[in-house]
Amino acid sequence: MPGVTARACANIALVKYWGKRDADLNLPAAGSLSLSLAALVTETRVDFDAALGADLIELEGKPAGTAEAARVSSFLDLVRDRAGITTRARVTSFNRFPTASGLASSASGFAALAVATTHAAGLHLDPRELSILARRGSGSAARSIFGGFVRMHAGDTDEAAYAEPITSSLIDRVRMVIAIVGGGAPKTHGSRDAMDHTAATSPFYRAWVDLVPRDLAAAEAALATRDLPALGDVTEHNALAMHASAIAARPGVIYWKPATLALLAAVRTLRQNGRAAWATMDAGPHVKVLTTVEDADHIARALANVEGVTATTISGPGGPAYVVG
Ligand code: PMV
Repeated sequence: MPGVTARACANIALVKYWGKRDADLNLPAAGSLSLSLAALVTETRVDFDAALGADLIELEGKPAGTAEAARVSSFLDLVRDRAGITTRARVTSFNRFPTASGLASSASGFAALAVATTHAAGLHLDPRELSILARRGSGSAARSIFGGFVRMHAGDTDEAAYAEPITSSLIDRVRMVIAIVGGGAPKTHGSRDAMDHTAATSPFYRAWVDLVPRDLAAAEAALATRDLPALGDVTEHNALAMHASAIAARPGVIYWKPATLALLAAVRTLRQNGRAAWATMDAGPHVKVLTTVEDADHIARALANVEGVTATTISGPGGPAYVVG
């Protein structure tokens, strides 16, 4: 069985996934919508090797920790069961992300792993089947199988919870500026546990889940009509609503640092001054700003001056996950 290397881009949700309807199958409680990013790529190689007694998982040049290795091995088991093999594998994965970015890599990681592992095992899955499989590794990974704007369906069964690309000519206009806060230190609460904790204890969780379909409809309408301000408006609002539900959990999940709030204020000022700039935040303190090709440099320079920001990166839209060789 020859080894296979695959690449996938990370994605940033404009309408977030935050909460599951089924933990075993990793079915999201609601849909989501994202933009894949060319600057954030994971490259993963998988070699099935009959000489191995156990899977060997190496991330960023180091053996994976116990929890990470177990998560990757159970993902490999899904593929092994499907291919009817028991062979163990060697997995090596690198993030080609800006140095010390501290950005979540589970989306690009599990998308690249899904593509590399299935090819190495001799399976031929179509993109939808790959998306369903990648979802089992990480909910957001289902979206990283595709490039550009991507919609994830909530779906109440395994087969119904997949992502698919959305065609919009807005794709040629958009950029994302990523402002890194605190040098990319490891995050305090993993998204997996934090969303379960929010669902179990936040009085605002139900309101959050009820809000998502409306935000998705607004985002899709904005993509269809090429209305960037409308897309930006729903992006910033949706991120704040997701964080509000997490902050109201008991104990509260607070990802923001002082620099996160300073960045949110800076983005509002930029907007008041006529720039295209709308903020979104995930399970960490960093701020990602949806903007245009024309405004991206200005926004990146302005955000680099905010106290507590350690790096900024401008990214264009990324393509779908693919086999390198
Ligand atoms: O795919 P996960 O389990 O890492 O969850 C992703 C959660 C957010 O990044 C906060 C939102 C999203 O839709 O990507």
